[in-house]
Amino acid sequence: MQILDGKLLSQQIIEEISVEVKEMVEAGQRAPHLAAVLVGDDPASQVYVRNKVRSCEKVGFESTLIRKGSDTTEEELLEIVEQLNEDPAIDGFIVQLPLPKHIDEEKVTLAIDPKKDVDGFHPVNFGRMAQGLPAYLSATPFGILQMLDRYNIEVSGKDCVVLGRSNIVGTPISILLSRKASPGNATVTLCHSRTKDLKSHCLRADILVVALGIPEFVKGDMVKEGVVIIDVGINRVEDATAKRGYRLKGDVQYEEVAAKASFITPVPGGVGPMTVTSLIKNTLRAAKGEVYK
Ligand code: GUN
Repeated sequence: MQILDGKLLSQQIIEEISVEVKEMVEAGQRAPHLAAVLVGDDPASQVYVRNKVRSCEKVGFESTLIRKGSDTTEEELLEIVEQLNEDPAIDGFIVQLPLPKHIDEEKVTLAIDPKKDVDGFHPVNFGRMAQGLPAYLSATPFGILQMLDRYNIEVSGKDCVVLGRSNIVGTPISILLSRKASPGNATVTLCHSRTKDLKSHCLRADILVVALGIPEFVKGDMVKEGVVIIDVGINRVEDATAKRGYRLKGDVQYEEVAAKASFITPVPGGVGPMTVTSLIKNTLRAAKGEVYK
């Protein structure tokens, strides 16, 4: 069994990008510039945004953090989005989710210029992705693809089973894995809460992507020998013996499943670290004009 080490891999990719940025700057171009908008004081969002800004620093990007109070109105936020859309010095930007309840997230997402939507959340980017056109891929699916690619995991012709049909993970990864591309060309089954006999689908999987948000849902008796496991879950499970009072658990019962797997992503340290790398890659692609010519 081999661990798919997202922490190590993301460090390698960050290192590669920093070399590329250095070359860009030495050639007289300006460094790529990412802006992040954070509204309110959600503690998890603060940590995520801090990590994103820190990653920008590591690769030599410019970054701008726009922090707004939880009383910011929808109109004010839409005005900020408009300014960022128009600002030629900004290559890409994100509005960290979740937003306070009085702001319509869909309206804000739709207001972002798809050319600067480095989160890949705008339906234009999703649609382009689904049709195999150049697009910004959202962080988790892009991170999974990079991981499969870098570990040389054969995907073509394999039976891939995806558990979960969210807009940001399950649905896009199932499209991407079935596309005529590399990694891709898999036969994909997308399972969800109405799926009959989920276990029989899981047992057929050569590659199992689990994005349900249910701690330790997949047990050892649900997978076959040699399966490749991509565990997207990051669940806080109360544990009085842990320093913070909780432990992070994936959607897979790690010990049982790892005993049968050929490759498995740990939690933490698997898919999670790859997501920031995806955002950085998208910002680099934005700065180079690779996606929208
Ligand atoms: N909240 C949780 N994950 C994400 C993400 O990838 N992008 C944004 N904008 N908000 C998030």
